[in-house]
Formats: sequence, C-alpha cells, structure tokens
Amino acid sequence: MSVFAGFGSDNHSGVHPDILSALRNVNDGYVVAYGHDEYTEQAITQLKEIFGKKTAIFFVYNGTAANILGLRSVTDSFHSIFCAESAHLTVHECCGPENYIGAKLVNIPTPDGKLSVDFVEPYLIGVDDPHMAQPHVISITQATERGTVYRPKEIQSLADFAHHHNMLLHMDGARLCNAAAFLKTGLHEISGEAGVDVLSFGGTKNGMMYGEAVVFFDTQLAKNFEFIRKQGMQLTSKMRYISAQFSAFLANDLWLRNASHANEMARLLAEQLQNIPGIEITQKVEANMLYAVIPNQCITRLQKQYYFHRFNERTCEVRLMCSFTTQPPDVLSFAQAIRKTVGET
Ligand SMILES: Cc1ncc(COP(=O)(O)O)c(C=O)c1O
Repeated sequence: MSVFAGFGSDNHSGVHPDILSALRNVNDGYVVAYGHDEYTEQAITQLKEIFGKKTAIFFVYNGTAANILGLRSVTDSFHSIFCAESAHLTVHECCGPENYIGAKLVNIPTPDGKLSVDFVEPYLIGVDDPHMAQPHVISITQATERGTVYRPKEIQSLADFAHHHNMLLHMDGARLCNAAAFLKTGLHEISGEAGVDVLSFGGTKNGMMYGEAVVFFDTQLAKNFEFIRKQGMQLTSKMRYISAQFSAFLANDLWLRNASHANEMARLLAEQLQNIPGIEITQKVEANMLYAVIPNQCITRLQKQYYFHRFNERTCEVRLMCSFTTQPPDVLSFAQAIRKTVGET
C-alpha cells in the first residue's frame, strides 16, 4: 500500500495551477537576468502595496535563506538572537544561523511556540559587557511552528520591548498567510505595522513552487543585503520565475484563499479527532497544523499508511499538517484510520 504523504507537511503539496500558468506566461522571450526585469519590478510593486512603499524587498529561493540572510544583514557575530526553542531557525536550519551569521542563538522555552516579553526579559543580560554576547534580535515565527498565531498586540509589545532595548524584531513568516487568514487581518497588520523590522515572507508552503521574500521595513537595514544575498548564493539569475509566482500569489487574493482552505482543513481534522478517546490535542489549532498525543504503537501502525512527523522523536506528540490541496474526504479517511487504530489497541 502506498503511503499518503498529504498530512506530513504543507511542503508535500504541489503547486497551485495559477502559479503554474504564471510561470508559463513569463516563459517566452528574453529578459535581463538577476532581477532587472519588468516582472520583478511588478512583483516588488505589488509587495510594496501591501507592506508599504518605504520597504526594501528581495527574493530568495527558500525559507531558510530568507531567515539566515535577513538576519545576517542586521546582525554581527558578537550579537545574540533570541528565539523560541521550537523555532525553525534553531531546530531545523542545521546550525546555519550560527555558522553563517556567527551570532549566538538563545533558545527560550515556551509552551506554545510563542514568545512574550515575560519570557524574553530574563534573557536580557550582559548588555555592554564585552565578555558576553550582545542581545540584538528577537526572532518570532508567525504562525508558529506549534500552529499558534500571534495577535497584533502581542507582536507590538515584543517590538516595543525590542526597540526600547535597542534590539530588532525579526519575523519568520513562512506561514504569515495562514496567520493572517486565521486572524482575518492583512499581512502588514501582523508584521510591519505591528513593529516587525525584518520579515521572511513565505510563498512555498502556500501554493508557490519556490520563492520567499525578505522584507526590510527600514531600508537602512537592507543596505548590504544585495551583497549578502549574492555571497549567500541566493541571487537567482532567472529571477522572473520567482517574481511571476509572487505576482500571481498576490493577485485575486490567491494567498488568502489557499491559506484559509489549509486552516479550515486543520480545523476539520481537529473536530474529527477531538472526541477520540486516547487522543489528546496538545495545541490550539489556529493555523494549518494540529499537534496531538497518540499512543506510541498507534503512531507506528498509522505511519505504515500515512506519512507524518513526531514533533520530537522521543515523544508521542505528532504534527499533522494541512495545505491548500488537502481535501475533506482525505481528512475524514485519515481521522477514520486514527479512530480505528486507536480503537484496536
Ligand atoms: C517556520 C518555518 N520557517 C522556515 C522554513 C524553511 O523553509 P525552507 O525549507 O524553504 O528552507 C520552514 C520550513 O518548513 C518553516 O516551517
């Protein structure tokens, strides 16, 4: 029996047809490489309409690069970057930030993936002490790796705290669209408008083939980014193919439709799982993923049919993720398979 991979990650889904047509539509003829083309100009204009004219915006291939290069642009090797201990930045970027930026990552425990001023404050130590890493950035993820979503006020209070202490607020927005869809806000309201200084704005997980944007809300912070991106091997020559995707992603609210659907599917899965004895949903289901504790032997059996990850290989907490392509019948069959497996043990 083949294994169904649809609940493993939103990265497991394909590319939205509108994005594929956008790629086809820009494929004819010649345009100047490395972003000096009309498609890139158009995509940047669309992004500026959302995030504000006084931004500096750059495309890279993937989310890891958006995070690391964006942070590299604003950080020195003697700095520290505060993040949640579950942050992609610290767990799933293979020490890339430490290696590439040289700065210290300070991992802060949090029950739901969200940082707050109360969590961060105790780590603000050693300021001006030359023996100690200098606190410089707070990095948050929206929506978080635990599927929870920061409210605008929560972001604003972290931004105020950061700025008050001469720090910056960075946001990994690989799933910013899912957060905005959940909150029914615009993308800017939960990033730049709430005080974020540097944003990684994700497209890949929400229907694009590849491509993320690094958005600097203060152009001064971006002054070296062109060089950092090139050194970081993320200056794509055929930039038109990222730009065309972003244009289609933003047109007709495709980003919102995709993210709303993915979130809705996660909610449907939660409804299905919430009353199964032996299953405990461990996090609020706000974006497009669900965390649940499932008995160990059931996980092993289910994974013969369904591909999904344990949050931590030593625990029985699993992450189930939906995407813009998740179909209700697939959710219902998966829930039924879980119900059956749990019932049999
Ligand atoms: C929250 C978050 N940030 C960043 C990334 C990195 O994206 P990529 O795999 O494109 O480098 C991911 C990937 O899953 C992610 O979940």
